[in-house]
Amino acid sequence: MPTIAFVNQKGGCAKSTTSVHFAYWLTQKEASVILVDADAQRSSSIWLSSLEKPIRSEVIQSADDLLERLPGLAEQCDYLIVDGSAGLSETTRAILFRVDLAIVPCQPTGVDLRSASDAVRLIKQAQSVRKGEPKAAVFLSRAVKGTKLLDEAIALLEKTEIPVLKTVLYQRQVIADTFGQGAVVWELSGRPAAESAKEFNKLFNEVMELLP
Ligand SMILES: Nc1ncnc2c1ncn2[C@@H]1O[C@H](COP(=O)(O)OP(=O)(O)O)[C@@H](O)[C@H]1O
Ligand SMILES: [Mg+2]
Repeated sequence: MPTIAFVNQKGGCAKSTTSVHFAYWLTQKEASVILVDADAQRSSSIWLSSLEKPIRSEVIQSADDLLERLPGLAEQCDYLIVDGSAGLSETTRAILFRVDLAIVPCQPTGVDLRSASDAVRLIKQAQSVRKGEPKAAVFLSRAVKGTKLLDEAIALLEKTEIPVLKTVLYQRQVIADTFGQGAVVWELSGRPAAESAKEFNKLFNEVMELLP
């Protein structure tokens, strides 16, 4: 079944936050999901086990183990989600050799845009070996509303030849609070949570359209 990875060697760009929210969103649609946590901090697997209804996760951190185990895990569920690691290109490369779709969250700052181009480079390498796979897209995460940087970032990303998703995930306190609460935005009350939930819904609908 389809395997979707959130990758970017840069830490803090919302890979784990997006992976966990995507896992929950799919589960709400009655799909069976396994999340592979490839990061040394293990935040997404800890997070999923702390949800009111825990979602299955597997911690797999070595590039060799990822290469060998992802296909088998994908057969056990409707959607396999891979939360990529920070720092390690080797791990990201292994993931990109096994997934159907790679999504790159990217903060709209100079440093982060540069690291997104590192991730894009690995994606293009994988695509050239795998005859075009995996499909890939970038989206802007943790953007601050009204900043000029956002428009500049979109223009820059559009030059990478990897599609940029229309949805922008904004920086919001309610999202920063979810991990500590062992929750996801759909479970929280209040207007900021509802607005974030709407953004995640829009993002994930766009992601689903990219799946084969
Ligand atoms: N949209 C957002 N608004 C506010 N905080 C966010 C948002 N997305 C992520 N964060 C916070 O930013 C930090 C890094 O996010 P995380 O998902 O752990 O990134 P990564 O897995 O890429 O390292 C975490 O503290 C998380 O709570
Ligand atoms: Mg992470």
